[in-house]
Amino acid sequence: MGLLARLRGSRALRSEFADRAALEGEIARLRGVYLQLVKDCLIGAAYRDPGIDHEQSGPQTPVFRSELRESGLDWPVTAHSMIGNRRMLNLWEVCEDVIARGVPGDFIETGVWRGGACIFMRALLKTYGVTDRTVWVADSFEGLPPPDEEKYPADRGLFLNRFRSLAIPLEEVQDNFRAYGLLDDQVKFLKGWFKDTLPTAPIERLAVLRLDGDLYESTMDALRALYHKLSAGGYAIVDDFHIPACRQAITLNPWRASVRKGSSFPGDAHANRLITCLARRYTTAAAGCPSM
Ligand SMILES: C[S@@+](CC[C@H](N)C(=O)[O-])C[C@H]1O[C@@H](n2cnc3c(N)ncnc32)[C@H](O)[C@@H]1O
Repeated sequence: MGLLARLRGSRALRSEFADRAALEGEIARLRGVYLQLVKDCLIGAAYRDPGIDHEQSGPQTPVFRSELRESGLDWPVTAHSMIGNRRMLNLWEVCEDVIARGVPGDFIETGVWRGGACIFMRALLKTYGVTDRTVWVADSFEGLPPPDEEKYPADRGLFLNRFRSLAIPLEEVQDNFRAYGLLDDQVKFLKGWFKDTLPTAPIERLAVLRLDGDLYESTMDALRALYHKLSAGGYAIVDDFHIPACRQAITLNPWRASVRKGSSFPGDAHANRLITCLARRYTTAAAGCPSM
């Protein structure tokens, strides 16, 4: 007998079915409550962590401005991520989507600063009871490299290496994971310059590749080493698409064909240019993978 017929015929089954649906609804609701709180703590919105508006030059007294934090336009003084609410929501959607569709692979962020986006990904996996995906945390943990202007003219003048506040030691990032009870063996750290660590990293497959290294060089090093490991149906999220150097790394290279602007991501209301671009692989590895 089919499920519907059985349901019609049995009051006990009907109520068991209703109980299960109610339970699943309650689990989803509680998961949402937890992840919302984790997100708001990670971006510092929960406690109105003051930030520096990095578009302004000269000395500043840090203040909390919700509109900047919404779009990730300031550098929080103590919070664990600078990507802000919208881009964290975008990460949430993308990670849930690959889990729902069973897209195989791990999650990685290349360029983690204090670790907040990776902490969020680990929290999300935990709420779904996912134990077969790793969160990879890739950074120099010493800040950005100086621009190699000869090799990468697009990076000319981008002296982000001079911002010591972007150099967060590995131990501090690990402490941040620990503070949320999320430092475990499903989190793996890749310490060093992307060009040295990513090509040989023991990553088999990725479902989510979040790029946040700011420079052309950093974006290219990550894409060259990892893009071919991205499962069909997975996502590459390009945080820095608004930075011309980074945009060039996307639009002047073979993967440009698979680039979709953030606003075209189904369910993504973030037309904001800083949500930038989401490169989603619709194709299979054989058809879509650039050979570089
Ligand atoms: C803008 S911050 C990342 C922000 C972070 N995603 C967040 O959630 O707040 C950029 C990070 O990229 C790292 N980075 C940039 N280029 C790199 C490279 N070539 N190799 C290693 N780390 C790099 C820096 O050390 C820094 O932590």
